[in-house]
Amino acid sequence: VSAAPEAIRWSGGRLAILDQTRLPQTVRYETIGTADALFEAIRALKVRGAPAIGIAAAYGIVVEMQRRAPAIEDFSGTLAAVCAQIVSARPTAVNLAWAAGRLRRAVTATAATTTDEALRRLAREAEAIHEEDRQICRAIGEHGLPLIVRGCGVLTHCNAGALAVSELGTATAPLYLAHARGVPFRVYIDETRPLLQGSRLTAWELERAGMDVTLICDSAAAAMMAEGAIDLVLVGTDRVTANGDVVNKIGTLALAILCRHYDIPFYVACPASTFDSTTPDGASVAIEERDADEVRAFRGTQAAPAHVAVRNPAFDVTPAELVTAIVTDRGIVHPPYRDRLAQAFSGPQ
Ligand code: MRU
Repeated sequence: VSAAPEAIRWSGGRLAILDQTRLPQTVRYETIGTADALFEAIRALKVRGAPAIGIAAAYGIVVEMQRRAPAIEDFSGTLAAVCAQIVSARPTAVNLAWAAGRLRRAVTATAATTTDEALRRLAREAEAIHEEDRQICRAIGEHGLPLIVRGCGVLTHCNAGALAVSELGTATAPLYLAHARGVPFRVYIDETRPLLQGSRLTAWELERAGMDVTLICDSAAAAMMAEGAIDLVLVGTDRVTANGDVVNKIGTLALAILCRHYDIPFYVACPASTFDSTTPDGASVAIEERDADEVRAFRGTQAAPAHVAVRNPAFDVTPAELVTAIVTDRGIVHPPYRDRLAQAFSGPQ
């Protein structure tokens, strides 16, 4: 299985991220040496996608704590402040808080004897999160593989691919595996306005992997469904709440509603790190509103009146009742979701 370049590199205690704002034209890694630099990189979507920002956050916390180590007097207080700063970079994906929580627990579970020992534990936990993520993607791929049948048309939105995670992606994992096993199918990819994660990232990574890819405008999804080109929709998520509501890239809700109209199954791929059992429903999730200029212009080229009013919510909430099933690393979960998700995701994470 040949996936895209790694979104995150960690080697010799140094963190580098692939700057996704430059894709697909330029593949360039940026070294991240401070929490401030990581905060800016996450806000600017240089590293993006729910699992990837969780992994980057974990390494970013390690890097910042290593940097501050010589002057640290209160290790857990400093760690709490560094975690809070990084978690505040984006509000919607639960993976940031999840990763920070794991790092904090790694040092508080049993008291570390020295600062060096605490730093080693942090690094080990970040590496464990990264490695688990690879395995989780493979497990999602295996569970989702039967959904990709010969000759089918799959529509995906935004980028829940290798660039958003650590290896095969979440929504794309069944596609990578089906392709590797010689199953013929076609992937339709929404552009995903305003930042074009679909066309810049997903189309790039899946075409590179040799898949049969067709790019469409977001507004063409209904027409593709009406003409029978789409057999299923498969997307990722930034947070699935306790009742099975799905928070994902803006435009996901529209696809789910269309699927209901055209009687097309709507699947969501969700790793354990993206399930938020403590938030009751999607209405309780903070939806990130991004800069108006992302809609008025693209990479500096004006596409609207310079001062026109804009709404730019980055995510929307798809109610659980529109979700056919959730493909997790623990298996495919069907409705009713509340108990079944809790059961599927119980156990160590
Ligand atoms: O704003 P982005 O590019 O971070 O949004 C990403 C998405 O909406 C993805 O679908 C989601 O994070 C799942 S990634 C496996």
